[in-house]
Order: sequence, then C-alpha cells, then structure tokens
Amino acid sequence: MHVLTILDHPNPNSFSAAVARQFMSGAGAAGHTTELADLNAEGFDPRWSMADIEADDAGPTPKDVLSEQARIARADAICFVFPLFWWGMPAMTKGWVDRVWSWGWAYNQLDDPDKSLQRPRTGVLLVPAGARSDEMSQSGYLAALETVWINGTFGYFGFTKRTLEVLNGSTGSENRRKALLDKAYQCGFALSRPTVDSSDRAVSGNHTGL
Ligand SMILES: Cc1cc2nc3c(=O)[nH]c(=O)nc-3n(C[C@H](O)[C@H](O)[C@H](O)COP(=O)(O)O)c2cc1C
Repeated sequence: MHVLTILDHPNPNSFSAAVARQFMSGAGAAGHTTELADLNAEGFDPRWSMADIEADDAGPTPKDVLSEQARIARADAICFVFPLFWWGMPAMTKGWVDRVWSWGWAYNQLDDPDKSLQRPRTGVLLVPAGARSDEMSQSGYLAALETVWINGTFGYFGFTKRTLEVLNGSTGSENRRKALLDKAYQCGFALSRPTVDSSDRAVSGNHTGL
C-alpha cells in the first residue's frame, strides 16, 4: 500500500514528530511505500477562505488544496499524527481537514457520513495526549472523540478500516514514551488494507502503565 502520514507539529524534536517517524518506519518495514505531509514545515495555510467557499460553488479549487487532494488520491492508507489540544484537533489539522476534504470532492451526502465520494481507505489517528487513559475514559472524552472522529470525520472520508489510538501519558516518563513509540511502530507495521465493510473500526485509549 501507499501510506500517507499527516503530521501536525511545528517542532521536529516533538514527541508527535517521533510518533510519525516510528509509524512510517513500521509501515516501511511491512513493505509499504510512505509519504509524509509535514503541514507546519510545508507552510500549509489552514484558514478557510472565500476561495474555498467559491470552490464549493463551482469556482476553481485553490492550488494548495489541489496538491493535498493529489496526495490523498495516491494513498491507500492515511495516518494523522497530532497532539490532543483542548480535547480536539490543533488548528492546523482542523484547517487541513476543512479545506482539503471538500464538498463535491470528498462528500455530498449530508444525511449519510458513510457515503463518501472517495474510494475506501485505511485510516489511523495517532494522538499523543497528556491525560491519563482512565481519566479520558471515565470523563467520556474518549467516547466523544470516537463518535466525532471515527464515526463522523472518518465516515465522511470513506475510510473503512478506522483506528483511533490515543497515546496517553505523552508527557510522562521515558519508559512510558518509549512504550508509546513502540505502539506507533506496531500500528504502521500491522496496517491492513481497506475493506468494503465500513463497520470495521477500532478504538483504544492506552490502558497500560499509568
Ligand atoms: C494548547 C494545548 C492544549 C492541550 N490540550 C490537551 C488536552 O485537551 N488533553 C490532553 O490530554 N492533553 C492536552 N495537551 C497536552 C498535549 O497533548 C501534550 O503536550 C502533547 O501530547 C505532547 O506531545 P508533543 O511533544 O508532540 O507536543 C495540550 C497541550 C497544549 C500545548
């Protein structure tokens, strides 16, 4: 498969950047080709603008959106790596999703998130988070993210294998971080092909260690 990793972190020495490297390394070891979209390093503009609105209304698609869509078009699997910010996506990732997965290209069925215009793909979210896994489960935050990202966002994307791995304890001990990086490698190594069955979803907070 061809595997696209979308990284959102301005610091190349961040834990998130290390997670992306480990994931790609695992995917490469399993025989997949890999491509990195380092949104901050590349200077992607996440601001939804009048040009995006006009594109929805039969205007020309902005050039930067077209080149991101070309990346998606050649990918069989897509992995998002970003730190959990305020129980959601950081602004860069959010803007990339808003602008690139556009009306008429990604979806047009407002009443059915699973009727994407895109072909089936495998989707993975690797999300470093400072919080503990038990805190996220008990508060309902993990279930909320699962509903929004796995059912909602990945549904509209047309992803048929859907995995959310919240990497809890990302600011913890070296041992903890090493275990999370090993998990990221395994996620890349164990990637499976997209299926036609959109009910194939996996969600996990990290329940070891903390
Ligand atoms: C603006 C901001 C918001 C954050 N919000 C959350 C949050 O809602 N939940 C959480 O568990 N951690 C939160 N964190 C902690 C980050 O997830 C954590 O610092 C990050 O995963 C560490 O990885 P990094 O080195 O790649 O940044 C937040 C951090 C920042 C800077």
